[in-house]
Amino acid sequence: MDKLLLIDDEADVQYSFRRIFDSPDLELHTASSGEEGLKLIPKLRPDLVLSDIRMAGLNGLETLRRIRQIDPKLPVILMTAYGTTQTAIEAMKLGAYDYLLKPFDVPRLKQLVANALKASKDMRQTVALQPQLEQQDYDLGVIGRSEPMQEVFKLIGQLAASDATALITGESGTGKELVARAVYQNSRRAKEPFVAINCAAIPENLLESELFGHERGAFTGATAQRIGRFEQCNRGTLFLDEIGDMAPATQTKILRVLQNGSFERVGGNSTVQVDVRIIAATNKPLEEAVARKEFREDLFYRLNVVRIQLPALRDRRSDIRLLVDYFLRKIGAASGGMKSINENTLIALEAFSWPGNVRELENVLRRAVVVAKGPAILPGDLPAELHQPVPVKEPAKPAVATAPVPTAPVAPQPPAPGETPAVSETPGDIPELARLLFRWAKTQPGLKVLPAVERELVIEALRETQGNQVRAARLLGITRATLRKRVDKFGIRRELNVT
Ligand SMILES: Nc1ncnc2c1ncn2[C@@H]1O[C@H](COP(=O)(O)OP(=O)(O)OP(=O)(O)O)[C@@H](O)[C@H]1O
Ligand SMILES: [Mg+2]
Repeated sequence: MDKLLLIDDEADVQYSFRRIFDSPDLELHTASSGEEGLKLIPKLRPDLVLSDIRMAGLNGLETLRRIRQIDPKLPVILMTAYGTTQTAIEAMKLGAYDYLLKPFDVPRLKQLVANALKASKDMRQTVALQPQLEQQDYDLGVIGRSEPMQEVFKLIGQLAASDATALITGESGTGKELVARAVYQNSRRAKEPFVAINCAAIPENLLESELFGHERGAFTGATAQRIGRFEQCNRGTLFLDEIGDMAPATQTKILRVLQNGSFERVGGNSTVQVDVRIIAATNKPLEEAVARKEFREDLFYRLNVVRIQLPALRDRRSDIRLLVDYFLRKIGAASGGMKSINENTLIALEAFSWPGNVRELENVLRRAVVVAKGPAILPGDLPAELHQPVPVKEPAKPAVATAPVPTAPVAPQPPAPGETPAVSETPGDIPELARLLFRWAKTQPGLKVLPAVERELVIEALRETQGNQVRAARLLGITRATLRKRVDKFGIRRELNVT
């Protein structure tokens, strides 16, 4: 539950905030003066403060200054009906998260509050390195015990102990942002702000002004001076996500900040000096962009001082069980009950290629928890692309084509390659499946449906376990001896790697 503190002396404003932010996920607290607000903060520990500027007693700017002394990480949005550019500038320089004019544009206000809450969480939710899985009260962790992850943990430690610039690379969903936050939270700048900017999400012509600010009249539409993120986040850490998408002019400015901590606002002459640590990330191979002359080589080397290359999930499959456990606990804690997972489902998860990496795994599990009917997640609860049979070691083709019994598929429609068999798409229940099967079998002259089904189930189980008879028998609910008899009886070929 997010806590919002509104500091405003007008009852009307308090009233409209109650209406705008009437949501079960938000707790709105109000204070009628700066003094009252400051008193509330240590007890309440809000995630975000919105404060009016003109108030009797302490004004908003002074309140902001004091909040920054108590807690530099608490985002503050200032609001006023009497906007002068000077107060806006002053507010941002003091480290306000943003500045709003009354009357509010409600959608914009909501969006701003959502962004500020995310920033607040980014700074506060501690990212634990190797959280204890038994412990219930962690909410964010970098999970992994595999060798490539051990390397990552070492680098996070080294980076946290220094002020060096870092470049985090890896495919989408491998945890680049998570690792950036882990570095930040373990660094000496942990008490100062962390600001994340997605360079790909901001139009090219606006990014430079977003980062460095601009002077009044710098370009059409620049009606007032604006303070950029570098100034706002002074002494803190700036996370430049998707840096590969940055325009050349902005790259040049970033290089200069890295070299001597200074820059000019867009359209300005006076030099601004800042102390900001930069952590950059990209999922594009920057070396290639450098070779194509799209990314400055000197900037690349400057960023690449320490490089963390995050492994793709398919290259650390041994961590999948650990991640599944972590996510199921996390999802369970949020929904008030944890689902378990069956062995076959885990095997399917371990076999998948995970193009979307950890993010995709988490999403698959979230969905599976919702669709699973019982207490455990079954293979049928996974999306279609995870239903591809686990590749059998030896034969390229299923080794069943030469068998003496009818080779008709069990399912009504033979699934095309890459398509989900109808049975897993509509798991239903066994009577339902049997009815379907029986109806279809009646149309197949000469088919001995029972042995045919039995045979296919044995093959499925062996394929799933890559020929391990003990595990296959367990999956089928029969003894190993019975399984052996079936293998012989049905002439299931040795190419299946039956062990
Ligand atoms: N090692 C990990 N342990 C636990 N959770 C992880 C791990 N890696 C990633 N995640 C989770 O996966 C999701 C994606 O991670 P993150 O946003 O950091 O990826 P990213 O590399 O920045 O992806 P993109 O390139 O798409 O921006 C997040 O919810 C994150 O918490
Ligand atoms: Mg990211």
